[in-house]
Amino acid sequence: MLLYIHIPFCDSKCFYCAFNSYTTKNKLKENYINALKIQLKENILKHLKTSNKLLNTIFIGGGTPSTIDAILYKDIFDMLKPYFSKNIEITTEANPNSATFEWQKQMFDLGVNRISFGVQSFNDEKLKFLGRNHNENNAIKAIQNAKNIGFNSINCDIIYGVMNDDFELIKKDFDTILTLGIGHISAYSLIIEEGTKFHLNEKSLNKTKQSLKIDDEELSYKLFDYLKSIGFEQYEIANFAKDDKFQSKHNFGYWEHKEYLGVGAGAVAYVNKKREYSQKSVEEYIKNPTYIDTEELNDEDVKSEKVLLGFRSKVGVALDIFSDKELKKIDDLVQIDKVCIAENIVYNNNFLLADEVSLYILD
Ligand SMILES: C[S@@+](CC[C@H](N)C(=O)[O-])C[C@H]1O[C@@H](n2cnc3c(N)ncnc32)[C@H](O)[C@@H]1O
Ligand code: SF4
Repeated sequence: MLLYIHIPFCDSKCFYCAFNSYTTKNKLKENYINALKIQLKENILKHLKTSNKLLNTIFIGGGTPSTIDAILYKDIFDMLKPYFSKNIEITTEANPNSATFEWQKQMFDLGVNRISFGVQSFNDEKLKFLGRNHNENNAIKAIQNAKNIGFNSINCDIIYGVMNDDFELIKKDFDTILTLGIGHISAYSLIIEEGTKFHLNEKSLNKTKQSLKIDDEELSYKLFDYLKSIGFEQYEIANFAKDDKFQSKHNFGYWEHKEYLGVGAGAVAYVNKKREYSQKSVEEYIKNPTYIDTEELNDEDVKSEKVLLGFRSKVGVALDIFSDKELKKIDDLVQIDKVCIAENIVYNNNFLLADEVSLYILD
């Protein structure tokens, strides 16, 4: 079973980010962790006990997990430990500024074995433009600390397609990651999300026909090719690993449409074909951490999710979920080399075309 734990606190709000995270609610941190413990006990441990399941992965994400003192995670780990599977993957996200040596070491000692840094770029000018609160040196130091502590599985998040980006600038980021000996890169193409500072700025820029986002497919292809040439295999539209062992088992589980549990403000779970939503507001969540809204998925919903997620990644899609009419369209796509079939699974040859391929087949 997969478990996601959401931490909705950040030290500063990045200009592009619409995640459920706040810079002004630090006073609530301890109450929030207590609420997490209640939800874990009532919703999660009970579920694991009755279903007789173990946890294969835990992902502590946010927001910024490194804004919470490591000691505050101790009780959570103590509660969950009896349910750890033998080779459990436990990832934490971290911001290069707040993930000090001590914080990382304490998390490592608690059992975290994978760390994902929100680096975004090693270029100080771009970091400022994105509204990040760290610089190149902080990022390099945080990564070196992680290596010295003994983290073997390290990821760097990079954002590309930002105004003023070009191939050379992103290539430099990838080269720095390579030199630092990191095994995994998540490279996200910038999304201008509603409610962010970038969204507001974009509206005024629109009048001058400029954009904060570079929508350049050629740039994506060039970056993917470059990553391949330096040994990073693309296993999802935005995820690249030097070796299978560095892939995120947790995220891979999502793409395989596995069931997952989730705790924290705005966290989502998927169990028994139902999606369960915790309260989004941090204050409301603290008041009532076990409250969930439920949405039932019908067979069509599940099918289209399997197709979309499978075509965005190396997971692929099992042929037995398709109708005869859809199988005929898949045959057409095989003829023109858009997809390929192996052992009754259809794989998409180009993850950037996942939406088009899915629409064509399911239409
Ligand atoms: C929860 S954050 C990672 C941890 C930590 N909060 C940090 O940023 O340092 C998850 C990642 O999502 C990506 N992200 C967030 N908003 C995005 C956007 N609008 N467009 C592209 N990537 C985005 C960033 O790369 C970010 O590192
Ligand atoms: S990108 Fe990370 S640090 Fe920045 S606001 Fe979003 S969650 Fe917080």
